[in-house]
Amino acid sequence: MWCLLFLVTESCKPSVGGKYNKGSRLHKAWYGSPLLGRRQVVVCKRHGKGGCPELSSGYRMTVEQAKNSQPKKQTPGIPPIDDSLLSSRPRRNRKTEAIRSLVRETILLPQHLVYPIFIHADSYVKPISSMPDCHVHSIPSLLEQVELAHQWGVQNVILFPKIDASLKSNTADECYNPNGLVPRAIHEIKRKFPQVMVWTDIALDPYSSMGHDGIVGDIVQGNQKQTVILNDETVEQLCRQALCHAAAGADVVAPSDMMDGRVGAIRRSLDAHGYSYVSICSYTAKYASSFYGPFRDALESAPADMPGVPKDKKTYQMDPGNAWEACREMELDEHEGADMLMVKPGLPYLDIIRLMREHTTLPIVVYQVSGEYAMIKAAAQQGWLDEKQCVLESLLCFRRAGANAILTYFAKDAAKWLVEEQGIARK
Ligand code: PBG
Repeated sequence: MWCLLFLVTESCKPSVGGKYNKGSRLHKAWYGSPLLGRRQVVVCKRHGKGGCPELSSGYRMTVEQAKNSQPKKQTPGIPPIDDSLLSSRPRRNRKTEAIRSLVRETILLPQHLVYPIFIHADSYVKPISSMPDCHVHSIPSLLEQVELAHQWGVQNVILFPKIDASLKSNTADECYNPNGLVPRAIHEIKRKFPQVMVWTDIALDPYSSMGHDGIVGDIVQGNQKQTVILNDETVEQLCRQALCHAAAGADVVAPSDMMDGRVGAIRRSLDAHGYSYVSICSYTAKYASSFYGPFRDALESAPADMPGVPKDKKTYQMDPGNAWEACREMELDEHEGADMLMVKPGLPYLDIIRLMREHTTLPIVVYQVSGEYAMIKAAAQQGWLDEKQCVLESLLCFRRAGANAILTYFAKDAAKWLVEEQGIARK
């Protein structure tokens, strides 16, 4: 019986120029029967029909291998793949999940997540129309949320209060009421779940009748009067607010107001009152972003539409065009005693996470904000995106960019998916 046999020499492997396509490995080959000795040169691109002059010893290939190393059919006008480039084939490291997970550089775990929870003083649970599946919780339902999230391994939560309009004022004094909503919520969480870290947002906006993170006031220079967000007066209120939350048992206070000098002032106030163990996670690079819309819907905390009240937060939150300014804020916060540095929003600002990661030794935290949540939810509801996969991908990308921790409204669900899908041990 006729069989097909190819003989190929080692010395014939293309070594110069890398100009040969895959088939050119076969500098000399024979068809025929070894018994009858009928041989015929069929392929030798480099040396032609005469065969390779360096031919000495060779190795035999199976028919299968020989077929695979036949010259590729070339499509006219399309150059052949450069064989020298294919000596490195990155796809080998992607061939199975076992290999992929072996070489994966970044992992996401439930303990990397911080769960933001909206609360109000009412006893019902209120849906938020622009944030499907997110609610403003009563204290009992807040405790349920904390428990559920904690069951899946989320060990950090951050509270956002919706304050009754009757309690709001320009100076936002309700923000340091020791019997206010946030101190009560902290007490309850710490009583039931002492191991859960409770974070609070430090800023005036939920308490401000003007919907600003600071006190709105006039400054006069020469004959010019301007309405601004007063910096130093606001910082004093923020210190009172941080002290109030610390006294109630907050583990981490997170100033989100972007006033100058607030981190240092809060640090000194906390230390002076015996709260040196309370951490500060500073919203270091918080941009004046349109992605906060749904959050402001939830808390009814948008800047008031009143004459004389600045319409936006651009005089204190950062300009989306700036990156080096994030480094400047970072240096200040670090110097003022921040323990963690936050970037906010998340996905449109991955470059800022990376930039800050490379210029500090402090942990970086990112906030996947309400607008980012709303976008994924809306597309998922339309059937346009796979919610679970998109959420887990976006959270992993924060980690790859350099974030240690992620504030996300998906925290509870994402932790559950991680435990279920990836077999991560449940807390
Ligand atoms: C308050 C605050 C805001 C967010 C977190 N803290 C709103 C704002 O600055 O206007 C936004 C969070 C989100 O959109 O999810 N200072």
